[in-house]
Amino acid sequence: MRVIRTIAEMQAICRTVHREDKTIGLVPTMGALHAGHLSLVRSARSQNDAVVVSIFVNPKQFGPNEDFGKYPRNFEQDCAMLDQTGVDFVFAPSAEEMYPEGGTTYVHVEGVSEKLDGRSRPGHFKGVTTVVAKLFHIIPADHAYFGQKDAAQVAVLRKMVRDQNFDIELVVCPIVREKDGLAMSSRNAYLNEAERKQALVLHRALLRIQTLADTGESNAATLAQVGREVIAEEPAAKLDYLEIVDSDTLDPIADIGKGALVAVAASIGSTRLIDNLVLHGAGSARGPQTSN
Ligand code: PAJ
Repeated sequence: MRVIRTIAEMQAICRTVHREDKTIGLVPTMGALHAGHLSLVRSARSQNDAVVVSIFVNPKQFGPNEDFGKYPRNFEQDCAMLDQTGVDFVFAPSAEEMYPEGGTTYVHVEGVSEKLDGRSRPGHFKGVTTVVAKLFHIIPADHAYFGQKDAAQVAVLRKMVRDQNFDIELVVCPIVREKDGLAMSSRNAYLNEAERKQALVLHRALLRIQTLADTGESNAATLAQVGREVIAEEPAAKLDYLEIVDSDTLDPIADIGKGALVAVAASIGSTRLIDNLVLHGAGSARGPQTSN
């Protein structure tokens, strides 16, 4: 496995791989890797000749009062995990390499970027699309791997790829959870022992909604209300939003008949967590997305 620090070298490697008619799988990350990230890497490994994982804590997707400064950074450990998982290249540029002084071009997917997390975190998705577009130019992969954990991010990136004609297929991988149901996240490292237990309320709320939907309830307002009540039962949780939306447009829907995305964001102490569940409509036997 090779660590690449410059854009020029990364682009040259991708040109060589493609000249040999080999495929490239890209897994963009901000590091502090866990089993959720590694599931994406494994999918990429099984479907491509060359696998590139980018590790870059992107300053442009953090708000001024967010956790950019304290975001966990474990580069050596990350590299050891990636090496073991069969990654060929780690692209780990500096902030100066990615954003040289004077850059004024952004990629902004209007509309969908202002929903869910985009509403609570103004500018967040503009930062995400700008960096992912840059990564797609630097690493013109055949497939790029993203987690369903960040469902709104997937909706925004799908639209960016469509609107901007990126010749890259997005592959979306299921949410990987801890044994007790907590969705894996680099930010879980912020939780103390008590908060770690309190954080389970997000998953509990989603499961309650799933159970009710399985009994045939399809009214989104009723389902959302039940989920909000579960969150309210945990005094340590401060709900940001719990919404039932169309998974492409992220617009609220009235009825889950044709399927829906249930998205929740809440803070436990000072840690903001998100989770979600895809409902497949009344009568569907499919449960919440989980994998090992
Ligand atoms: P990061 O939070 O590091 O996540 C990298 C990828 O791992 C994302 O696609 C995310 O959805 C996926 N992921 C995280 N936790 C997961 C879990 N429990 N199960 C499955 N997949 C999971 O998302 C970002 O970084 C950034 O916004 C990025 C796309 C890299 C742009 O900076």
